[in-house]
Amino acid sequence: MAAAYKTVGQKLRRMGPAARAAARSDAAFDQQWGINTCREVTMSALDYPAWLRQSSHHYQASGTHLLDQAITCTGIDPSAFSFVDLGCGKGRVVLLAAARGFVSAIGVEYSPLLTQIACANAETFIARGGATRTPHFWQGNAADYVPPDGNLFVYLYNSFGADILSGCLDRLEAAKLQSPSRRIVLVYVNAQHGDVVAARSAWREGASGDDMRSFECIGAG
Ligand SMILES: C[S@@+](CC[C@H](N)C(=O)[O-])C[C@H]1O[C@@H](n2cnc3c(N)ncnc32)[C@H](O)[C@@H]1O
Repeated sequence: MAAAYKTVGQKLRRMGPAARAAARSDAAFDQQWGINTCREVTMSALDYPAWLRQSSHHYQASGTHLLDQAITCTGIDPSAFSFVDLGCGKGRVVLLAAARGFVSAIGVEYSPLLTQIACANAETFIARGGATRTPHFWQGNAADYVPPDGNLFVYLYNSFGADILSGCLDRLEAAKLQSPSRRIVLVYVNAQHGDVVAARSAWREGASGDDMRSFECIGAG
């Protein structure tokens, strides 16, 4: 997803001014709360079995500004939705969601190593007063994750390929079918397989933002 650089300084020098400012603000978030979400982790360093590795993407965190952009883009009220990050990595966006007043904030992550880091980050974040609601993490393949009841705000930052995405969409559509009055909103950042969602009749595309597309599940296709 991104070129490998030898040092953080080298990486910063190659960025434009806006990207540099974003990288600084991401680092400041970690520093403020004493957590570790910035550093990328390549697939070769992650504990994935071969069959899953092929369509799973490595850990690279969303910019700290993206959750607010996603909320604005969809116009949802966080207090009426549970938040789910499909492929949450070290949990940065889940922590931010817990601080934004979602009903609950859940991270789904395959890598046991990253899930462990996310749990430790959440513990520190809560202990230091970052949020009052404790985030939760579910470790496993996102395609196997059964979402909770109620309205869902699902966040996805290009975590995997079309096959795993399709499995996730099947689960979300089944959840909608079981409880048709609930809302299921999906924000897909860096939407490499956005057309997979758009092609399914159960989903209606909504507003798009800077490098993000939004969709709402309207019922079984
Ligand atoms: C691009 S990172 C996004 C991290 C986080 N969502 C964020 O925005 O900061 C993709 C993450 O998805 C995880 N992932 C990839 N395939 C997965 C799968 N099949 N099930 C669960 N997690 C997966 C990776 O381990 C990685 O942490």
